[in-house]
Amino acid sequence: MFAVHLVAFYFTKLKEDQIKKVDRFLYHMRLSDETLLDIMARFQAEMEKGLGKDTNPTASVKMLPTFVRAIPDGSENGEFLSLDLGGSKFRVLKVQVSEEGKRNVQMESQFYPTPNEIIRGNGTELFEYVADCLADFVRTKGLQHKKLPLGFTFSFPCRQTKLEEGVLLSWTKKFKARGVQETDIVSRLTKAMRKHKDLDVDILALVNDTVGTMMTCAYDDPYCEVGVIIGTGTNACYMEDMSNIDLVEGDEGRMCINTEWGAFGDDGALEDIRTEFDRELDLGSLNPGKQLFEKMISGLYLGELVRLILLNMAKAGLLFGGVKSSTLLTKGKIETQHVAAMEKYKEGLANTREILVDLGLEPSEADCIAVQHVCTIVSFRSANLCASALAAILTRLRENKKLARLRTTVGMDGTLYKIHPQYPKRLHKVVRKLVPNCDVRFLLSESGSTKGAAMVTAVACRVQAQRKQIDEVLALFQLTRQQLVDVQGKMRAELEYGLKRKTHALATVKMLPTYVYGMPDGTEKGKYLALDLGGTNFRVLLVKIRSGRRSVRMYNKIFAIPLEIMQGTGEELFDHIVQCIADFLDYMGLKGAQLPLGFTFSFPCRQANIDKGTLIEWTKGFKATDCEGEDVVDMLREAIKRRNEFDLDIVAVVNDTVGTMMTCAYEDPNCEIGLIAGTGSNMCYMEEMRNIELVEGNEGKMCINTEWGGFGDNGCIDDIRTQYDMEVDEGSLNPGKQRYEKMTSGMYLGEIVRQILIDLTKQGLLFRGRISERLRTRGIFETKFLSQIESDRLALLQVRRILQQLGLDSTCEDSIVVKEVCGAVSRRAAQLCGAGLAAIVEKRRQDQRLEHLKITVGVDGTLYKLHPHFSLVLQETVKELAPQCDVMFLLSEDGSGKGAALITAVAKRLQQPRREN
Ligand code: BG6
Ligand code: BG6
Ligand code: GLC
Ligand code: GLC
Repeated sequence: MFAVHLVAFYFTKLKEDQIKKVDRFLYHMRLSDETLLDIMARFQAEMEKGLGKDTNPTASVKMLPTFVRAIPDGSENGEFLSLDLGGSKFRVLKVQVSEEGKRNVQMESQFYPTPNEIIRGNGTELFEYVADCLADFVRTKGLQHKKLPLGFTFSFPCRQTKLEEGVLLSWTKKFKARGVQETDIVSRLTKAMRKHKDLDVDILALVNDTVGTMMTCAYDDPYCEVGVIIGTGTNACYMEDMSNIDLVEGDEGRMCINTEWGAFGDDGALEDIRTEFDRELDLGSLNPGKQLFEKMISGLYLGELVRLILLNMAKAGLLFGGVKSSTLLTKGKIETQHVAAMEKYKEGLANTREILVDLGLEPSEADCIAVQHVCTIVSFRSANLCASALAAILTRLRENKKLARLRTTVGMDGTLYKIHPQYPKRLHKVVRKLVPNCDVRFLLSESGSTKGAAMVTAVACRVQAQRKQIDEVLALFQLTRQQLVDVQGKMRAELEYGLKRKTHALATVKMLPTYVYGMPDGTEKGKYLALDLGGTNFRVLLVKIRSGRRSVRMYNKIFAIPLEIMQGTGEELFDHIVQCIADFLDYMGLKGAQLPLGFTFSFPCRQANIDKGTLIEWTKGFKATDCEGEDVVDMLREAIKRRNEFDLDIVAVVNDTVGTMMTCAYEDPNCEIGLIAGTGSNMCYMEEMRNIELVEGNEGKMCINTEWGGFGDNGCIDDIRTQYDMEVDEGSLNPGKQRYEKMTSGMYLGEIVRQILIDLTKQGLLFRGRISERLRTRGIFETKFLSQIESDRLALLQVRRILQQLGLDSTCEDSIVVKEVCGAVSRRAAQLCGAGLAAIVEKRRQDQRLEHLKITVGVDGTLYKLHPHFSLVLQETVKELAPQCDVMFLLSEDGSGKGAALITAVAKRLQQPRREN
């Protein structure tokens, strides 16, 4: 009995001595709670740094956005291929996910070797090898010629800008293939797969193993929002609030961040805790100076750390009687599995002896105890460090959620965590100590990261299908060059019809003579009143023209025309106009002045003279009764009479295109075309009198108001009209009319956009499939909003804000789609407008038999002025379709009021001799 006690005492004493010895030797490797809290705080700061746009480039912890936004919700399904490359084993898998409420995942897999000459050889060969393995797997499973989506678990740091792309930042762990860094892994593998004709695979997702692990665990436990790998390497990912991720646009919801915590300390942040052994290990590694945190933690390095320590202790005479074996001197001879075996609870000591003997050593009892303790210190430090970083992530999650207590699940994987007998226990304990306000469940991923990768791929698959549907809709708005050439040709034909006496009555492009014969010559002078009705604003103006100096002074006032007046009776409309004139005269102190007046009236009028204009029909947003078929000058005169307060000399009625052309011609005599791309769309130009069969005389030129908005009313462009154009037409004040205008002008573009959005929403592709009241409201997308949404300077968030202002509750993804829709619609508008304009300039060039035509177009209208791309696309189209014409675009700064006044001045001058006769 006594002897037993004695042995026990002896043993305890021996153990104590050895432990003390090792503790002293490895003093630096034992981290106090205080130090762990300090490391945790440092890691918190590192995460912050990695997430910030300005600080990310210099951050060592890269915090990589993964473009994985949601954890599985059970609705995922389909059949997928999967690759799992970068851990201790390379696997190819087939995963079958079925929903049907039972969350069923079936997997078949095959391991393939990863010889060093492949993973450290030539990059292209590495990918070819991976493709070969995949092809082999597909063949073995009889999956050839079946198109399968693939999720690629690639366990290295990649910078992603989308799910299906990732640029390798650097190799880590055992890999070091040449020429891969800084290239996109997905395209590399895609390229390598082309060699296999029977392989039809679409790589839809590239995921880090941490992400795959998190998603695998989240499939079983929806609380799982962190994934940790403690295997060959170590790393973690977690769900971060989008509003904290500077590098990705958008701020709603969350996105998984791959922290790449293995690189923590690469900037020197952990120098105070790194030991001489860590430095020695680093120097002998494939990537010196890199992954310093990983090298203190993960499986690839733990055994080697132990070996270096043992070697140093032996050298110092603290072990093996100072004797070193040659095996002990060989790099890599102690592996993590040895460390794990030595730390086994019961057999640990025996295992230690065996392992040391295998290393060619002759360990004493004391040596075995000491070596075992070295292992404990090294692996304990590993768990401690991991725990600190994980505690930082958990704290961040808790703070993001503004919770006093966080309940969460961490998905775990990696051989060190799985095979080391004490590791999980220690890690869990330290984490709980460091973050007492978190209830953490650690969930081991039994099936690796593949199940999760398949979930991500399933979501990507759904997104891809939806994207295809959206693209199909957008494609309807993409016109080919041939289609535009056709439009140009048809427009040209319509212009000719409209000019000919025989065909004029049936022409959709009315080609209305304006009785404006010439351009201002600079001799015009005097004071004029001008009205400008029919665009976005109704204006009354006073225009003072000084002769000789080509200078004009203008005073104007904008008046509103309420909808009930625009669509009330004609009398009400004209009474309102006269009321506004009276207010203006009052405001200008001109009460009673009898001034000549030019009336810009932006609707199609048949004129027999400059001061007579019969409204053919209302267009745009006007629909006052009893006006169509009436002379608008008479109506205005009568309204003035009814008021009986002042008299005005109405000298000219002009279309806004004509006013615009004149305004611009005052600056540039070469301006012979007037274009409006605003609420409505129209164009006028100077035509040879001899071509205008409706008007007597063959000398000189006259301005023709084309009223091209009616182009297509005979169905000639129905081949390019979409269902959305039809819907807009049906909901308009003049169904069946102004078809070209309805595809090209501000008043309708927003409506087309709205119709498309409604359709996409119905298809479940937008606004979560919910059509709001707001979206049902006609006219919400005014030109100015379209212009804002499409501005290149605008970040996605701002687009979303505009949509929110419009009452459309959109996600950032929705905003992208809305912006694309706006872009497609406005681009088509500009191209169609350009094709029309090309028809005119070509006609003018050919009529004058010129090799080259140099001509200026005076332009006005909110669409042209405000939209960020419209004018450019328009100009490019004209250049493309009328290459022999050198077309200058001159923006009318002063509106058409100035031009109307100039026309009035000329008409007044011509009136005089007529009256004298
Ligand atoms: C596996 C996962 O279970 O664990 C891999 O499927 C991951 O994706 C690996 O890389 C990590 O552990 P180890 O020890 O193999 O590096
Ligand atoms: C204004 C002109 O500048 O532009 C108006 O003065 C014209 O005569 C208008 O109708 C066209 O643009 P919008 O966008 O206001 O219809
Ligand atoms: C390395 C890789 C990282 C991976 C980890 C675990 O740290 O850089 O991407 O997640 O190993 O495999
Ligand atoms: C409408 C009108 C036309 C006007 C154009 C631009 O198309 O019918 O007369 O020029 O809008 O305002």
